[in-house]
Amino acid sequence: VVRPAYPVIIRKQALDEVGGTLDAIGMSHRVAIITDDLVGPLYAARVAESVGGRAAIFSMPVGEQHKTRQTWARLTDEMLEADFGRDTIVVALGGGVVGDVAGFVASTFMRGVPVVQVPTTLLAMVDASVGGKTGVDTPRGKNLVGAFHNPAAVIIDPLVLETLAERHTRAGFAEIIKHGVIADEAYFESAASFLRDRHSAGRSGEELIRGSVDIKSDVVARDERESGLRKILNFGHTIGHAVEAACDYALLHGECVAIGMVVEARIAERIGVAAKGTVAAVQDACSIADLPTSLPDVGPADIVRFMKGDKKAREGRVEFALPAKVGQMAGSDRGWGIPVPADVVLELLSQ
Ligand SMILES: NC(=O)c1ccc[n+]([C@@H]2O[C@H](COP(=O)([O-])OP(=O)(O)OC[C@H]3O[C@@H](n4cnc5c(N)ncnc54)[C@H](O)[C@@H]3O)[C@@H](O)[C@H]2O)c1
Ligand SMILES: [Zn+2]
Repeated sequence: VVRPAYPVIIRKQALDEVGGTLDAIGMSHRVAIITDDLVGPLYAARVAESVGGRAAIFSMPVGEQHKTRQTWARLTDEMLEADFGRDTIVVALGGGVVGDVAGFVASTFMRGVPVVQVPTTLLAMVDASVGGKTGVDTPRGKNLVGAFHNPAAVIIDPLVLETLAERHTRAGFAEIIKHGVIADEAYFESAASFLRDRHSAGRSGEELIRGSVDIKSDVVARDERESGLRKILNFGHTIGHAVEAACDYALLHGECVAIGMVVEARIAERIGVAAKGTVAAVQDACSIADLPTSLPDVGPADIVRFMKGDKKAREGRVEFALPAKVGQMAGSDRGWGIPVPADVVLELLSQ
């Protein structure tokens, strides 16, 4: 495994060690803890306490609909009002929404200050916090304004998952399933077996988190700027992001990724890229995780329209990251992006 240049700490009670971790990596800066109105009251005081007197807490409203330039501007203004300067370090305490917004604030504040990601959802732990993508949504679609800004460290305390709503836990499993499909069949199987008896006592998801972080950081370390290999992380996301926008974010990111993975696996089997059985395996894993596997009540034409506005579209052509089978992606000779005729996409969306 190729590891990222920054530490990824996964440890129970790590929340109380944020201050110590900042010291250990030589960051004696003032600390802006950016969180949201749900996570803040639960955990921000503990983090602030571990950091000591140099921390202040800045909170944003909960939810994807606040992942906007307006929130970015408000947080930035509040930090300026509080006299934060170049010696600021941002601690992003929350799910992927907070991580993306806070990371984007850090990437632009005083032309860029460090960010430490402290993800508190399963999805953010296994995916969003690693890799350095930050940004906000616009009315035209998701993540259309943003920056690459690697974290100085990622600190994961699995115990905070105890307060996470079940629906959000399930959403995180979508990215875990994705990691298995794109890189590692054995990991895919162990995730499926974990999911099968996750409600019976005694199993912690810590090994799964470590496994996913390893897969994601390995892919990212090999291709930080998404010129090639990193595209495989988009499996399920070309359709997924479009579904997310088309249903006006009524479904969660992870839920849309599950739907996206099933449809994209179907596309892959249909155009002869994926081995038979790939769709069934993906669909089974998502079902075991109680994730949706079929499209919500949105028109296929709407989904196609959002897909064409996506960053991944080039000159109106939509490319997909498609599996060859569980554990392996197709298209290494084509830069991992496979163009699919619009009528095939439309047909499989209409099924
Ligand atoms: N940058 C990346 O590489 C990347 C990768 C994947 C996803 N994302 C982004 O991440 C976002 C989705 O992230 P998410 O699924 O974490 O959603 P989220 O940030 O909205 O969090 C989900 C909900 O859980 C609450 N919450 C968070 N932690 C909690 C805890 N420990 N206990 C109780 N409640 C808690 C939040 O307040 C929120 O209501 C999307 O915007 C997506 O685009 C980014
Ligand atoms: Zn995702």
